[in-house]
Amino acid sequence: SVLIREVYNHPEHFVEKTIQVSGWIRTSRSSKTFGFIELNDGSFFKNVQIVFEENLSNFDEVAKLSIASALIIKGELVLTPDAKQPFEIKASEIIVEGFSTPEYPLQKKRHTMEYLRTIAHLRPRSNTFSAVFRVRSVAAYAIHKFFQDRGFVYVHTPIITGSDAEGAGEMFKVTTLDFDESPRTEAGKIDYAEDFFGKETNLTVSGQLEAETFALAFRDVYTFGPTFRAENSNTKRHAAEFWMIEPEIAFADLNDNMALAEDMVKYVISYVMENCPEEMDFFNSRIDKGLLERLNHVATSDFGKVTYTEAVEALKKSGVAFEYPVFWGADLQTEHERYLTEEIYKKPVFVIDYPKEIKSFYMRVNDDQKTVAAMDLLVPGVGELIGGSQREERMDVLLSRINELSLNEDDYWWYLELRKYGGTRHAGYGLGFERMIMYLTGMGNIRDVIPFPRTVKNAEF
Ligand code: 4AD
Ligand code: MG
Repeated sequence: SVLIREVYNHPEHFVEKTIQVSGWIRTSRSSKTFGFIELNDGSFFKNVQIVFEENLSNFDEVAKLSIASALIIKGELVLTPDAKQPFEIKASEIIVEGFSTPEYPLQKKRHTMEYLRTIAHLRPRSNTFSAVFRVRSVAAYAIHKFFQDRGFVYVHTPIITGSDAEGAGEMFKVTTLDFDESPRTEAGKIDYAEDFFGKETNLTVSGQLEAETFALAFRDVYTFGPTFRAENSNTKRHAAEFWMIEPEIAFADLNDNMALAEDMVKYVISYVMENCPEEMDFFNSRIDKGLLERLNHVATSDFGKVTYTEAVEALKKSGVAFEYPVFWGADLQTEHERYLTEEIYKKPVFVIDYPKEIKSFYMRVNDDQKTVAAMDLLVPGVGELIGGSQREERMDVLLSRINELSLNEDDYWWYLELRKYGGTRHAGYGLGFERMIMYLTGMGNIRDVIPFPRTVKNAEF
């Protein structure tokens, strides 16, 4: 039997031959003497049209099949140059491998995204989610390929950790439910403050600190794994569980870091456009008109760069400041970020050198003593796609930052030792994978680019 992908790629190999395909009914219609089935076999975004006629031994049964029924079909492939689809299969035999029912929740009509979220187990069968999740898979591969081709070592950082990589306290606790081993309160209840066999642990918010340990051994490394944030932000761009890519490079500064990020984003865009043309056409026509033109432009032109101080000045002079006041020292709100990239610069833009008060403890303090060598990449439609920095490699400065922020020095003893034993300039960033998928597809909600979203009040599946 053959895959529909192979037939689309090389119809000439199959033309006027009898082939066998298998897949699921996407739509079907029939008259008394003939019928059509749009079959999708999962191997390709597009369906293949099956024609069946009266002479089929089980014609009546096939004509009544519900959407989603699983079929094995034998038939001749014929070219149909005048029709919408380039070819069809004239069925000589149709075996029903699995029946569906008329109550099947995914009917031919367009469903809302909200409704589809309630059937996360079925939505990969819809056109939109078929396109989203294949792009997600290909984009993941493109990211690995980008880094592997450049000799980066892929490091698997832990999910359960004892330190807070961002120092922001937005962590999920990890606890044991082993009743015999669990520490108890005086009242005899499990003491959830004492958890991982006596050590306080949490789900990682970022693999960065562990990636730094590997960067100081392998020079160029990256992580790609799930991360968790216990922030109660019910927005279209925040999830409690999301995937992050975190490269870390030694003997490198903020400019090297920005160059790497720009190359990576452009590479992933180009790779996905080249390898998912059907899916990208679908997004361009059905989800976000102008997507392809925009991505093409981004992949071939320079990103902008502006300091935080310049960005704040530009925002103050703009209309957005009336509704959302801004001043030097304030964290930029989503509205500011989007205004910067969508209205002022109209392209991806790096904002660098943020006030140290609003950034993490590990960022390198600049000579002005007021700002740190941070970089956020803002892109139209999504806002913050990447956050990164050059790291503080000077032991004394890092220690005083940790103390200034009242973090517990002992939690970071191993991190501090990196500065003691051959510390070097180094830098890195985190790319939110779901936000990259939103950017690539034009999908407007993070819940619709991750198979089983974990957002506030959503953990059904
Ligand atoms: O800016 P963030 O918090 O940076 C870090 O975690 C650094 N340790 C990264 C590094 O330098 N290695 O997060 C990085 C990116 C953000 O720019 C955003 O794209 C994404 O991760 N992100 C989220 N995506 C979805 N849901 C959330 N709750 C997210 N929080 C951050
Ligand atoms: Mg950030």
